[in-house]
Amino acid sequence: MTTFEILPETCSDILALNALSAAAFGPGRFARSAYRVREGIDPVAKLSLTAWHDGRVAGGVRFTAVRVGDRDGGLLLGPLVVDPALVGQGCGKALLEEGLSRCRDAGFGFVLLVGDVPYYSRFGFKPSAHGAITLPGPVDPGRLLCVELCEGALEGAAGQVRAYAV
Ligand SMILES: CC(C)(COP(=O)(O)OP(=O)(O)OC[C@H]1O[C@@H](n2cnc3c(N)ncnc32)[C@H](O)[C@@H]1OP(=O)(O)O)[C@@H](O)C(=O)NCCC(=O)NCCS
Repeated sequence: MTTFEILPETCSDILALNALSAAAFGPGRFARSAYRVREGIDPVAKLSLTAWHDGRVAGGVRFTAVRVGDRDGGLLLGPLVVDPALVGQGCGKALLEEGLSRCRDAGFGFVLLVGDVPYYSRFGFKPSAHGAITLPGPVDPGRLLCVELCEGALEGAAGQVRAYAV
């Protein structure tokens, strides 16, 4: 079993994390709807985490504060990225479990992301109400996923996802 140490992201991790994101998502990543939501707004610093293995950066995850329509207290997860040499060894799981736990402890009510249901469902994510939640750009509604950290936090929420600074 490979073990990963999950630590708060520091400035010196950023080059390595950016290189992993560039390799995983390619140059088109900046045009993606989830990137457009985050544009110009820093992720929540205390929720940006780096995974370490064998003295090297193995992956990372970030969360940006968002509101849906007028419902605030949410987060948009992303990017989540793992070194391709280390995939399938539990790094993503370690980052998500620690990240979601910290999001809950920080008092956020819900987390959204754009991603694959078969991967994220194991962490409680489900497709959001079809069409009620929108991004500033096209998104496959079946890939717009959410999890409530507080029961009812997303009940009836509708509108566009917008990031805000905290
Ligand atoms: C997706 C990603 C973060 C997963 O990280 P990881 O460290 O390999 O994940 P874990 O080791 O915790 O989990 C591996 C399990 O998830 C499964 N899995 C990984 N990606 C999956 C996907 N897209 N859909 C379904 N299952 C997936 C693996 O098959 C494996 O299953 P098993 O536990 O039954 O063997 C990583 O592969 C990655 O960085 N991919 C490129 C970037 C990316 O797609 N990020 C997510 C954006 S939505």
